[in-house]
Amino acid sequence: MSQDKPTILVTGGAGYIGSHAVKALQRAGYGVVVLDNLVYGHRDIVEEVLKVELVVGDTSDRPFLDRLFSTHHIDAVMHFSAYAYVGESVTDPAKYYRNNVIGTLTLLEAMMAASVKKFVFSSTCATYGVPNIVPIPEDHPQDPINPYGATKLMVERILADFDPAYDFKSVCFRYFNAAGADPDGLLGEDHNPETHLIPLVLMAALGKRDAISIFGTDYPTPDGTCIRDYIHVSDLADAHILGLEYLLGGGNSTAFNLGNGLGFSVKEVIDAAREITGREIKVIECDRRPGDPPALVGSSDKARTILGWQPQYPDIKDILSHAWKWHQKRHG
Ligand code: UFG
Repeated sequence: MSQDKPTILVTGGAGYIGSHAVKALQRAGYGVVVLDNLVYGHRDIVEEVLKVELVVGDTSDRPFLDRLFSTHHIDAVMHFSAYAYVGESVTDPAKYYRNNVIGTLTLLEAMMAASVKKFVFSSTCATYGVPNIVPIPEDHPQDPINPYGATKLMVERILADFDPAYDFKSVCFRYFNAAGADPDGLLGEDHNPETHLIPLVLMAALGKRDAISIFGTDYPTPDGTCIRDYIHVSDLADAHILGLEYLLGGGNSTAFNLGNGLGFSVKEVIDAAREITGREIKVIECDRRPGDPPALVGSSDKARTILGWQPQYPDIKDILSHAWKWHQKRHG
């Protein structure tokens, strides 16, 4: 299909956040090519739901990438593909450094060889480690407490060095807790294994799990459970369009937090899920999960001011009800 707007290569476009970004790009009129190794991504979502070209391969495979860039006209890259299990990154850090750092560096070098020099990168609030203040601003020290966060920070540093050296322009988005699902019900979260709170709570509501474990009830928070800033995945996707347009318009390399600036405790999320689903959700109170900061809430004033980003679904009930619609369809 021909279009006037640029064509964007979306790595990890068969995954959770990447697939929502593909939908947002399509809606905004961009051409899209998805690159995914399908280790965790879903072929059916790209081919049957999004209906865009899927190229199956690995970001660590330089000859494959060179062929991809020589056979496709690509104007910019959105890079979502990464391993993102914090616990696994602690037990198998080599897997994370190889894929998330070496894979990304290989992709960046292939881009430069093809003279593609605009890059939107999925980073994370996990690069901050345990915050000194909340809401966390972008200039807060970055001191990750797990290898996953360290891999993302390394890529941020690579990108910061590439700009003055190679005139390579990038936007790093530091997501807080991505959650929810496409309001149209076409896309959603489908990790295997699943470790994230909201999908696990909804699986318990569906009866696919007996209960939800609460990891720690003795944190220094009002109800003793961890507080997180849940941000709707479609709002993340919209931010990526704005970040892309910022780069295409000549913007300088920079990083933005993406969160709502609102914190919800684990117990508050479970209570809201009971209300939205109308189902009983059993809980088991457990010990703390290693590596969990008590509270992570972000300031996204920079993205609002510079990009004009305005989250459409800041209400945790909207986030949960969209996720519930998706889970009933995909797993019900
Ligand atoms: N939690 C439970 N029970 C569960 C699962 C999670 O109580 O069964 C708690 C966690 O302890 C945490 C909160 O729910 O306090 C949210 O946990 P998630 O696993 O859903 O998400 P995280 O906060 O661990 O997310 C982190 C970072 C992200 C990063 C992500 C990678 O905040 O930036 O890990 O998966 F991208």
